[in-house]
Amino acid sequence: MSFRFLTAGESHGPGLSSIVEGMPAGVPVLAEHIDAQLARRQRGYGRGGRMKIETDRAVILGGVRHGQTIGSPVSLAVINRDFESWQDVMSVAPLEQAYAADTPKRRPIEIPRPGHADYAGGLKYRQLHDMRNVLERASARETTMRVAVGAVARCLLESCGIHIGSHVVEIGGVRGEVETAPPARDINEQADTSSVRCLDENATRQMEARIDAAREAGDTVGGVFEVVADGIPVGLGSHVHWDRKLDGRLAQALMSIHAMKGVEIGLGFEAARRGGSEVHDSFGAGNVAADASSSNGSLSRPTNNAGGLEGGVTNGSPLVCRVAMKPIATLMNALPSVNMTTGEATGAHVERSDYCAVPAAGVVGEAMVAIVLADALLEKFGGDSLEELRESLSRHRDYSARLGQPLPTAAP
Ligand SMILES: Cc1cc2nc3c(=O)[nH]c(=O)nc-3n(C[C@H](O)[C@H](O)[C@H](O)COP(=O)(O)O)c2cc1C
Repeated sequence: MSFRFLTAGESHGPGLSSIVEGMPAGVPVLAEHIDAQLARRQRGYGRGGRMKIETDRAVILGGVRHGQTIGSPVSLAVINRDFESWQDVMSVAPLEQAYAADTPKRRPIEIPRPGHADYAGGLKYRQLHDMRNVLERASARETTMRVAVGAVARCLLESCGIHIGSHVVEIGGVRGEVETAPPARDINEQADTSSVRCLDENATRQMEARIDAAREAGDTVGGVFEVVADGIPVGLGSHVHWDRKLDGRLAQALMSIHAMKGVEIGLGFEAARRGGSEVHDSFGAGNVAADASSSNGSLSRPTNNAGGLEGGVTNGSPLVCRVAMKPIATLMNALPSVNMTTGEATGAHVERSDYCAVPAAGVVGEAMVAIVLADALLEKFGGDSLEELRESLSRHRDYSARLGQPLPTAAP
């Protein structure tokens, strides 16, 4: 069994939806769990006006009964409140039914924004006459549904003792300094109290000032966030094939989030600058108290430069992924562009937009990590019900708990 999903829906259309396949029966799932994650995605210093209009709420249309999954696909929807103001622009009915006679079409997009999907998508789908047909689906509004699906995946993971958190480490060149980050399960409680989801209070204020400066200049900023997960059993993913390596699967999932341009695992690029003796995490044998968030019995690993993965397989240490987001492409001080209908040089299309969305992107990153981990967990431990999955996981955890002691003699 694997965990799969697809999303549908446009940014200003009637709503977003998804079908989630692979959830075992018996997992507690409440709409409130999903709504709490959706609310976290809506916050963050530097967001535009859209997030003030929407109060995202999940509607569960199938797959859950009396607060628990029943093994059938989980079907989700989120209604776009803003659709009310876009009924003509985003009408499903033909143009002549959407607009009164002689009323010009509102908000067509003929001038692509550098850095957005407008031009490349418009050319590919032959929609250059109105690139709204591209923008509406390329928009990060789609990440609402990823967060909803991720919240369902989290319900499964948390039932198995796996927790995920994230925090922002850099915005527009301002870096946060954190001596020791809290364990994954406690990170969000702390990070969510910061307007930019940064664990360093001093840096929070500097990041706010950096976002203000960008806004005043009609500019935007990007940054870096870190996603951490703990309680993960050893052995998710595999070393045997390129498409089963968990580091590759995580990188793909995180890079697929709108505007993400780099993913590091553990030390990441820094590992390339150091010698092996300064990078690889040594083992401590015997009755050494293991790190509380490790799943390696009494084996200890004093460092976690590998970020919880070796050979594409989880190694029992917390998973640490860092992700770089480029600055938002819609600039109020528009960049040079060309009108695709007239061929005239002019400023790029401008539309209501975020100035910085790194804090929200971290929440989306958590969702994508949850989805990949849920898939890998089901792949290794299987089961059509949570009960079966936990039995199998518990046997594996008992085996791992003996690590650091001599292995029993293998049967011939
Ligand atoms: C949470 C979030 C919010 C975003 N908000 C905006 C926005 O308001 N305006 C914008 O131009 N881009 C926004 N983006 C980025 C664009 O969606 C993205 O740059 C675009 O889809 C092109 O894809 P690419 O950057 O991956 O090439 C946002 C991204 C995320 C993750």
